[in-house]
Amino acid sequence: GRGSRLVGSGSAVPKHLITNEDLSKFVDTSDEWISVRTGIRNRRVLGEEESVTSLSVEASRKALEMANVKPEDVDLLLLCTSTPDDLFGSAPQVQKLLGCHNALAFDLTAACSGFVLGLVTATRFIRGGGYENVLVVGSDALSRYVDWTDRGTCILFGDASGALLLQAATDDQDSLLGFDLRSDGNGHKHLHVTVDSVAESSSSGAETNGAAFLQPGKASYECLQMNGKEVFKFAVRAVPQVVEGALQEAGITGNDVDWLLLHQANQRILDSVSDRLHIPSEKVISNLANYGNTSAASIPLALDEAVRSGKVKAGDVVATAGFGAGLTWGSAIVKW
Ligand code: ACO
Repeated sequence: GRGSRLVGSGSAVPKHLITNEDLSKFVDTSDEWISVRTGIRNRRVLGEEESVTSLSVEASRKALEMANVKPEDVDLLLLCTSTPDDLFGSAPQVQKLLGCHNALAFDLTAACSGFVLGLVTATRFIRGGGYENVLVVGSDALSRYVDWTDRGTCILFGDASGALLLQAATDDQDSLLGFDLRSDGNGHKHLHVTVDSVAESSSSGAETNGAAFLQPGKASYECLQMNGKEVFKFAVRAVPQVVEGALQEAGITGNDVDWLLLHQANQRILDSVSDRLHIPSEKVISNLANYGNTSAASIPLALDEAVRSGKVKAGDVVATAGFGAGLTWGSAIVKW
């Protein structure tokens, strides 16, 4: 059979940096509160010259360079994002700007789980045949949807992009050792960015007068709404389960894991999940102090930094897990 191998990584972050100190000037918070409760110290936020598309192009270019693959040799580009520059999808713009003339490009939306879902999707495209080089890009700019007056959420998020390149290989070279993916719409109320008009029509009850639906709409989105405590409880309960599930599918145990790379949401979630999995803290990859929660970008961004710094080496087993809005969550065990 055919395998799918990880051959390159890249990442990009906006220039503009916001410290905890900066935030404490416009919401009632402090560096101490944010560091102790979340582990976050800095985050990057898109400036005027930057976009989800531009960061995605930069991250992808670096991944192609590392793998020494030409843009025209890419067959598929998956842009995992919940904050595209265009609601119809931003992947084709990334494709155009990269010069991936021969690639199919489309968006995949699953908030903070987007990258893990994209990685599994890409692998299955390659294993199924007909696709040799696939770029999986995770990019988000939640700064666009965060209420910057809400101290309960605005302290958490940052913007970034990360990309991995997967390449067709032999069966025994396959990088995806196992996965376990889940979703449950019942938890939607705990974390969402809802379109305004939908929220209005549902709150005003069943409106059967057809004319109401025919008004020209200028839809906008509400700010990100989150019940932090519920999301926290969900993450520490659900994430260890899917990591265990994915390890089982891979036929290995936590002892065989070189690195635990969770979606970078909160250091306390990382600590609690690694504890429950009995994976020591030296094996936990964490860079959220520098970037906060960058949604679909957090896993490829942290992996790219760990690879480029020499921390993650060829052959290392990395247990990844994403979790977030939907709710969606999932784990993929990969070999670098
Ligand atoms: N600065 C100072 N005080 C604050 C701040 C702040 N930034 N935010 C909240 N507080 C106050 C609250 O008002 C509350 O005060 P009170 O006790 O007087 O009412 C107190 O601090 C405690 O607030 P909690 O919300 O109970 O604090 P908690 O310890 O739960 O931490 C946090 C909040 C950091 C949001 C935490 O719940 C969390 O990280 N949850 C997970 C969120 C997450 O990861 N979401 C992303 C998922 S991924 C995706 O798909 C987007």
